[in-house]
Amino acid sequence: MNDIFDIEGRSILIAGAAGGIGSGIAAELARRGARLTLADIDGAAATSHCESLPGTGHKACRLDVTDEASCATAVEAAISNGGGLDGVLNAAGILRVSPALDLPLDDFTASMNINVTGSLLLARQAGRVMIEQGGGQIVTIASVSSMVANPNYAAYAASKAALSQLTRVLAVEWAEHQVAVNAIGPAVIPTPLSDPFMAKPEYRAFQMSRIPMGRMATVEDLLGTALLLLSSAGAFITGQTIYVDGGRTLV
Ligand SMILES: NC(=O)c1ccc[n+]([C@@H]2O[C@H](COP(=O)([O-])OP(=O)(O)OC[C@H]3O[C@@H](n4cnc5c(N)ncnc54)[C@H](O)[C@@H]3O)[C@@H](O)[C@H]2O)c1
Repeated sequence: MNDIFDIEGRSILIAGAAGGIGSGIAAELARRGARLTLADIDGAAATSHCESLPGTGHKACRLDVTDEASCATAVEAAISNGGGLDGVLNAAGILRVSPALDLPLDDFTASMNINVTGSLLLARQAGRVMIEQGGGQIVTIASVSSMVANPNYAAYAASKAALSQLTRVLAVEWAEHQVAVNAIGPAVIPTPLSDPFMAKPEYRAFQMSRIPMGRMATVEDLLGTALLLLSSAGAFITGQTIYVDGGRTLV
């Protein structure tokens, strides 16, 4: 029987592939036979993760999503690795936490540059190729902060809300070319990005009190949604931010 979630042989570029979420999703996609190009600003870490993946045909490269030429190079690397570009998973991002009154402007600018501008630059490099080849699927990791207003999250929440709206606009622009653009909005997950904050008891208690299902998310919680949005099963879903959050955006 034809498996609509089958991604065997698909060429998928993963940005932020050295991070907690990017590397976890990469491992699952590799286990299912996708041909991966792992890209991260930490090129050495991407290479090291690449070497640990199951399967063959994966490669790694350095990528700075804020540099359009670097995005173009990573897209080229994925094409030459797979004979096309079926999917992109962009899990590159940063979190800066500070009361708005004290927020260093550099933190705000960096958040917008990496989380929003970087998402546009990588998506449009991939989008050009996908339009030319007649389709593709682009997935970015947004956050519950696309919707909810955590105190001290001015930079992060503004960037993630912008990312969700960017996702909708790209989806509309590229729909006629069968290019789907979506985002996943996780609640807090233990990774190098969140660990320094979750180590603070007050911060942890606040976050946990807001999750109706009563636990943090895990990277495993994201795998089904990532698979859906990168396989033919999800080809007609576009412009969505799918929250994987134990109910965090409901309260
Ligand atoms: N961990 C969480 O609680 C959580 C929750 C919701 C959403 N997210 C989002 O998920 C994504 C991944 O987060 P994570 O928890 O895996 O964080 P992480 O810090 O473990 O990984 C982020 C990765 O992005 C890379 N990166 C940073 N700047 C880059 C750039 N300019 N170009 C290319 N790569 C760059 C880093 O080197 C790192 O490997 C982020 O967008 C984050 O906002 C995380």
